[in-house]
This record gives sequence, C-alpha cells and structure tokens, in this order.
Amino acid sequence: MFDPVEKLKEYIRHPSVSTDSNFKAGMRGAQEFVAGLLASLGFAIEVVPTAKHPIVLARRGGDPKWPQVIIYGHYDVQPADPLNLWKSAPFEPTEREGRLWGRGAADNKGPLMVHIAAVARLLERDPQLPLRITFMIEGEEEMGSPSFPAFLEKYAPELRKADFVFLSDTGSVSEQQITITCGLRGLMLCDVEVTSSRSDLHSGLHGGAIRNPIQAVAELCASLHTPDGRVNIPGFYDDVLDVSDWERAELAKLGQSEEQYREFLGVPAFHVAPGFTPFEATRFQPTLEFNGIGGGYQGEGTKTVIPSKAFVKMSCRLVPNQTPEKIRELVYGAIRARMPKDVTYRIVDQHDGCPYVVVPPGRSNTPADQSPVLAKAFRAVDTAVTEVFGRAPLYLREGGSVPIIGEIKRVLGLDSVLLGLFLPEDNLHAPNESFNLNVMRKGIAASEKILAALARG
Ligand code: BES
Ligand code: MN
Repeated sequence: MFDPVEKLKEYIRHPSVSTDSNFKAGMRGAQEFVAGLLASLGFAIEVVPTAKHPIVLARRGGDPKWPQVIIYGHYDVQPADPLNLWKSAPFEPTEREGRLWGRGAADNKGPLMVHIAAVARLLERDPQLPLRITFMIEGEEEMGSPSFPAFLEKYAPELRKADFVFLSDTGSVSEQQITITCGLRGLMLCDVEVTSSRSDLHSGLHGGAIRNPIQAVAELCASLHTPDGRVNIPGFYDDVLDVSDWERAELAKLGQSEEQYREFLGVPAFHVAPGFTPFEATRFQPTLEFNGIGGGYQGEGTKTVIPSKAFVKMSCRLVPNQTPEKIRELVYGAIRARMPKDVTYRIVDQHDGCPYVVVPPGRSNTPADQSPVLAKAFRAVDTAVTEVFGRAPLYLREGGSVPIIGEIKRVLGLDSVLLGLFLPEDNLHAPNESFNLNVMRKGIAASEKILAALARG
C-alpha cells in the first residue's frame, strides 16, 4: 500500500539544491527517487540529460483514443540557509502540528507527491484506467529552468499531442479556499553596472570634477517611475490587456481587507498606480522593481571617497500580452537614453519568462477553440475541489511567475490547470518550510477524482 506521507519524507531526505554544486549527490538521489517511484507504478522511465540536472519523463501510454494529461513538477529545492533559523533540520523531515516540515515540503515535493499518490491509488483500483499520463519532472526550476525550453522543443512532436498540463506549483488563499491559478506574471531581469573613474578617488582632491556613479544610478532609478507609481517608460503599458469583468468579480469574492494586508506588510500606506486596488495591481499590472543596489563604502564610520563603480539589479513582472523581448528593448532603450554621457555602463541580461493566462470555461470570453478535454478538466477540478474541500475554488491570477507554463503554451500550444496547494504560511524559499498534511490528504482525494473523471470521458 502506497503511504504518501512516508514517501514524501523519503523524498525530502534527498537534499536536492540545484544551484549549489555541493549538492550533486542530493540532486541525483531525488531524481532517482522519483524515477524509481514512478517505475514502481508501471511508468516507462526516460531520464533526459541536460547541461545541469536531468529531466525525468515517465510515460503511461495506452489507446491513442484515451485522453492524455501531462503532470509537471520539479525535484529541486531552494537552498536551506540560514540553517540556524530552522526548528528541525531541513533535510530531516518531521511531523508537527499537522504539518510535515522540511525544505521542499511545499515547493514542490509535497504537491508533486499529491499527484503521484493519486495516480498510484487510481491504478491500484483500476490497472486498466483509460488515461494516458506523462510525468515531466525537472531539476532546474529554482535556477530559472534553463534547459526546459530546448527539452520542450525536442519532445514537442510527442508532447503536443497531450490534451493539457496539470500541476500544483502555485498557492491557495487558505485550506478552506482553494485557488485555481488562471494566470501568472512573466519576468524580465537585468543588471546595470555604472563606472565613472578608473579607480576610487579622494573626494577632496577630485570632488567637483566628475559625476559620481552612485548619483548616476540613483538618477536613472528615480527616472523610471512617475510620482503616482506608474512605470515611466513610453510604451511600457501598450500591450497590457483590460481586466475582464469576471476577473474583477472573482477577485471581489476574496473578501480580503486592504487594511489587514497593509498591516501584514507593515507599510504606512500603499503606493498603487491610479485605478487599481493593491489586490488588483499585484495580479493585473506590470511592474519595474529594483532588487538590489550598491556601490561605494558600506563599512563602519565614514570614508570621503568617490567610488569608481555602482550597480543596480532590476526586474520587471509582466502581464499577459506583454513579451520579455519587447519590455527588454523598452527598458534598455530608456536606460541608454537617460544614462549621462560622462560615465560608462554595461547592461547585463539576466533570465526572463513569458506571462500566462488561461480562461476557465463558462466565463464570458472563453475562446471558442479551447480544447474540450481542457474544459472538462476545469469542470472536474471545480467539482472535485468543491466536494473534497467543501467550497468552490476561486479562479485568480497570481503575481508570481512559473516561466515554464508560458513556455509550454508557446512551444506545445498546451494550457495548464494550476491547482494551488501551498498556503501563505508554508514558508516557501524561507526557513521552516512545511506542507499542511490535511491539504495533502484532501489534495490526493481531489486529484484522484479529477483524473478519474477525465478517464471516464
Ligand atoms: N512556485 C513559485 C512561483 C509562485 C510563488 C507562484 C507563489 C505562485 C505563488 C516559483 O517556484 C518561483 O519561486 N518563481 C520565481 C521565478 C523563478 C524563475 C526563480 C518568482 O516568481 O520569482
Ligand atoms: Mn520556488
């Protein structure tokens, strides 16, 4: 008998930190663990090599007339540090307070185990289940999925025959209120490095003769927003779509108080572009943020220096219909036009990802060409969530990014059904990550119903 919690513990014990080369053994362990688990359920395993960490493709074929679902997940996790803040060791999973604690418990080992366990139970009950299932499990999600687009291109002829992609790598509002994520923001990241003089200079000897690179960076940054909080780059908002009425109505059902959100954030007031609530702005509006800034003396006391260099790291969150390519061009254009001519600078590209949106069936502007199996999947999810969690799910866009979802749409033409299974208190990417075991149990029951409904046709 398949015991999902025990299996999840075993899975978490493999320390699979993809970004740190000291964790090669943990990466291999986690990869072999999922591959072995799916093999034991009768899946045919192909381990697809990449530049860093292989992708596990596990297939259950069958009659080509059966519906086909791809289930996505990732076996890598974020680094666990700072270690001293963990109440129990990150890679020694422990049960407390109805939760399983450990790095990766919620992002993404627990949610992936939910779907594996659902498949295990279904196949145990009905070995002839008329459903084709392909698991696609990568090991580079936490590094921005550098190998995934090429993998998708290579396997596209096979993969694009599937009906849709099913996954849980987004959140829900609460255990009582499950969320189906209908959209994610995209990303575009870059660094700007400004150099003034050849080396640091005495500010008494040379101050007044040259431009300070910190000032150049600060002036550039200050020019990129208007006082009311919009991004001050011509064309930045041109491709942003209007928000549909059904989306605003769905968001209104959230019933969250702005005041509570303000207190949770610990800010004296919101700074939101005109025409949006904070809850709308984080989901429906693009942003330009500064993620880090530096230059000059940072130590104790004072130092009368003109630093030679300063830098800023920035990122844009993009909303549907914007593209990282166009936004990169606009942002770089603004940087080039506004950078003073008396300094030199370099713009360093970082990774990016497309935004994503899917309209659930029955909403006013559902595209007519939506696949019938996708529509059926949405209905099956709605029914299963309502039955198992006791309340109908909310359909909301999310401010975060899972860049491969947009990539899957672009390369394979497939939509994704994103069943949110982690909760705000799960501490993703932070110390003391955990996964709520009630959500796990209910998630398995829901996933089982969803997949069974699809198989029934
Ligand atoms: N699973 C998260 C994205 C997420 C977080 C979705 C919260 C919904 C709610 C994902 O693993 C993540 O952290 N994405 C990064 C981008 C990635 C390319 C490093 C992000 O959104 O910043
Ligand atoms: Mn993550």
